[in-house]
Amino acid sequence: MSARPGTRRLAWNPLLDRPLTAALVGIWVRATDAGGALGFLPPAVPADVARAAAPAFVRVRDGRDDLLLALVDDRPAGWCLLERDPRGYTAHWRTLRRLQVDPALQGQGIGRALLDEVARHARDDLGLERLFLSVRSGTGLEGWYARHGYHEVARLPGVLRVAPGDDRDEVVMALELATRAAPGA
Ligand SMILES: CC(C)(COP(=O)(O)OP(=O)(O)OC[C@H]1O[C@@H](n2cnc3c(N)ncnc32)[C@H](O)[C@@H]1OP(=O)(O)O)[C@@H](O)C(=O)NCCC(=O)NCCS
Repeated sequence: MSARPGTRRLAWNPLLDRPLTAALVGIWVRATDAGGALGFLPPAVPADVARAAAPAFVRVRDGRDDLLLALVDDRPAGWCLLERDPRGYTAHWRTLRRLQVDPALQGQGIGRALLDEVARHARDDLGLERLFLSVRSGTGLEGWYARHGYHEVARLPGVLRVAPGDDRDEVVMALELATRAAPGA
């Protein structure tokens, strides 16, 4: 018997109060332990993840970065960050980071919905030209992002040692949001 699909919605920059931050850290821990590539190796230590999340959430509260939350039946189901580069001359692009869906809810299109809304917001609301993200090689996610329009622009070979003898590349991918004028055009 298949479960009833819940009511879904997306929300930009929800109030990051204590219950919500705990829920987002919980998803990060569970997604890591299920094999996700989110900056930690399994088993993730919840206190370490909470420490990494805190400054990211401060930047969202301060309005420097944006957080997109996916909810199912009003419960947090997934999230990601759209981060600004701090330099003053990089306002034409941003970086998508920490895209994650609770393992219990993966494979139902929530990740795709987050990716689609990030691209729409970046292009239509922010007028950005490009999004960047980084992927750990060997997870299969490069192909998933490629199906959503991203392409590889750089690769740092072997910088991620996920286990002794198992070094992975960090792959930088980009999504082109606007056709830029050719030089001299
Ligand atoms: C990547 C992630 C956000 C996708 O979310 P999701 O809600 O499961 O995605 P969707 O249901 O929209 O799409 C599922 C698709 O992703 C593919 N997919 C998910 N994880 C994959 C992986 N590790 N390797 C290859 N494909 C993967 C599925 O095969 C499926 O493909 P399809 O669209 O061709 O059917 C989710 O799997 C996740 O949270 N992973 C752990 C965290 C992580 O590694 N994030 C990436 C940081 S760069």
